[in-house]
Amino acid sequence: MGVTLRTLLKKKKEGRKITMVSTYDYISAKLCQEAGIDCVLVGDSLGMVFQGLETTLPVTLDEMIYHAKAVRRGAPDLFMIVDMPFMSYQVSLEKALENCGRVMKETGAQAVKLEGGEEIAPLVARLTEIGIPVVGHLGFKPQSVHLFGGPKVMGKSKEEKEKIMKDFKALEDAGAFMVVLESVPTGVAKDLTESSRSITVGIGAGKYCDGQVLVFHDLVGLYEEVKPKFVRRYVQGAKIFREALERFKMDVERGDFPSPEESYGE
Ligand code: KIV
Repeated sequence: MGVTLRTLLKKKKEGRKITMVSTYDYISAKLCQEAGIDCVLVGDSLGMVFQGLETTLPVTLDEMIYHAKAVRRGAPDLFMIVDMPFMSYQVSLEKALENCGRVMKETGAQAVKLEGGEEIAPLVARLTEIGIPVVGHLGFKPQSVHLFGGPKVMGKSKEEKEKIMKDFKALEDAGAFMVVLESVPTGVAKDLTESSRSITVGIGAGKYCDGQVLVFHDLVGLYEEVKPKFVRRYVQGAKIFREALERFKMDVERGDFPSPEESYGE
């Protein structure tokens, strides 16, 4: 048995940090497992990072399932969470249950992630009741990007902070075992982490969260389109790959590739 919900809750209890990486394919998931990461999140950020879209909104349930199956094959032992895409859980409770059920049945996911607070609490409660672990997502919610008018730090004002605290409590009471906090002031995330049973995982939420998540392509420097303040690039992946491609082009054009050793002979 690999990483389970119990492993993660034990880590929180013991004050050990949890690591999560948003991944969309077999190779990156395999690297996560080899590096000893705890959780892989099949994030709907694949809309921007993998598909080159402007937002996560067009991503479909079938696309999420396709990517999640590949991630599962690459990281069979990690705790796998799958994002429920926009409009796959907002239409009705029945439709949401059906769609979350599909993700669990078809991908081998151990949890689903939903954006929202009080308004999704009845769904979170029902999913938990039928045995589907739920991860919430508060602060900046990418599926509501048009409502916010773009990426934004949430929880700076007294009203916003109170709203996040209230939403967090609603999710926790409904059974969400984990909540991702995106673009939230450090102090707000600290208060939530210290006062909750649920695991907090931050992205742009400071160092006090129980865990941290980054998108694979951000972390390895492959995604150069934007670099939010909270992204740390551990390697300049795009530069390294570009240089390799340039060398390949040069070698082919000069006749240096393939060599006799790289050929099958006469
Ligand atoms: O879609 C995603 O990858 C996410 C993380 C950035 C938390 O939701």
